[in-house]
Amino acid sequence: MSELKVNGARLWASLEEMAQIGPGVAGGNRRLALTDEDKAGRDRFVAWAREAGCEVSIDQVGNIFARRPGTDAAAEPVLAGSHLDTQPTGGRYDGVFGVLAALEAIRSLNDAGLRTRRAVEAVVWTNEEGSRFQPAMNGSGVFAGVMALQTAYDARDAAGLRFGDELARIGYQGDVPARARPIHAYLEAHIEQGPILEVEGKEIGIVTGIQGIKWFKLAVRGFNAHAGTTPMEVRRDALVGAARMVDAVDRVTRATRPDAVATVGMFSVSPGSINVINEQVSLSLDLRCPDGAGLSTLESKVRAACEEVAERMGLGLDFEEIWYAPPTAFPDPVVGAVERSAVSLGYTARRIVSGAGHDAKYLADICPTGMIFIPCKGGVSHNEAERIEPAQAEQGANVLLRTVLELAERA
Ligand code: HGY
Ligand code: MN
Ligand code: MN
Repeated sequence: MSELKVNGARLWASLEEMAQIGPGVAGGNRRLALTDEDKAGRDRFVAWAREAGCEVSIDQVGNIFARRPGTDAAAEPVLAGSHLDTQPTGGRYDGVFGVLAALEAIRSLNDAGLRTRRAVEAVVWTNEEGSRFQPAMNGSGVFAGVMALQTAYDARDAAGLRFGDELARIGYQGDVPARARPIHAYLEAHIEQGPILEVEGKEIGIVTGIQGIKWFKLAVRGFNAHAGTTPMEVRRDALVGAARMVDAVDRVTRATRPDAVATVGMFSVSPGSINVINEQVSLSLDLRCPDGAGLSTLESKVRAACEEVAERMGLGLDFEEIWYAPPTAFPDPVVGAVERSAVSLGYTARRIVSGAGHDAKYLADICPTGMIFIPCKGGVSHNEAERIEPAQAEQGANVLLRTVLELAERA
């Protein structure tokens, strides 16, 4: 059993086929959560899972569970999966690799005629990215009990469309209660989305945890006036103020911690007319740091820097936290199982903390959880140029399969 390996060609064919669904404009993917493209990707996964003999169930927040029964129906299952929704200019492998590697593990167990003691479930979590609907990871967040189902349902996208209505529209508002159940372990295979493995020439990342993340929505309020008749010294220009805040956030973050990061990803102006001084600017802020204390210090410094600009320029400022995912450490037994698998397969590996957020963060709140990284080209992700090699996908899926096997047989 321990020599079992995946069918790399089949895995790669599935990755290539999924990449045709919701294509981007530059070779990547655009399958925003709960769009028709997301539905098409989900439908394809469900069809493949059923072809692999799995029992498929959908919960109230749209999470998909493809279950391969074990010999002991009473034993807690091993889950493995990730997400299929992408960024607007997303890559082919972020999330998708983990979902299809889990499916490939099931397919390989089928090929070998192996029946594990514990059931194995391949999982697709809803809205991991949080791009169309904030906050992120609300599928796994509701499942783990850290987010209310109604809160997820009431989230709205930029066009005012409601999460719950869109979920029903694409036919994935299931009736299985979206709440935790006894799970023996959860594993997530994912691309690193950073440069470390590639730079160090390591084939596998043994993920020990995930850094802390905080999201904020800012509103900078000034006074809209005529571009031609308003002297510079009397203006209260929300756009100039927001621009100075963005620069201050960047400078403060660089000065605070070398391992802290800050990103303003969304920025919209009102009224946005060529000859009007802007009244309001709405912007997002994503702060991350490996430890909670560091994240809290960073938030205080960034908030103070923005308030200082507002004060100096006579602008209003709303600075609202909309999401906090505390730093996560994965338990040694699962990290150890991943490490044993990588070593037994003869792959070069190193332990690593994830800079990106993952559904595994919430699963770690309710069951023993671990992650497996593979390198991606140049560490590029959240970009249509995201690339991996077939051999890398196969190696990551082999580590996943071997770890699933160990955990699914463990008492
Ligand atoms: O934002 C993240 O870290 C994840 O890639 N969605
Ligand atoms: Mn991801
Ligand atoms: Mn992502």
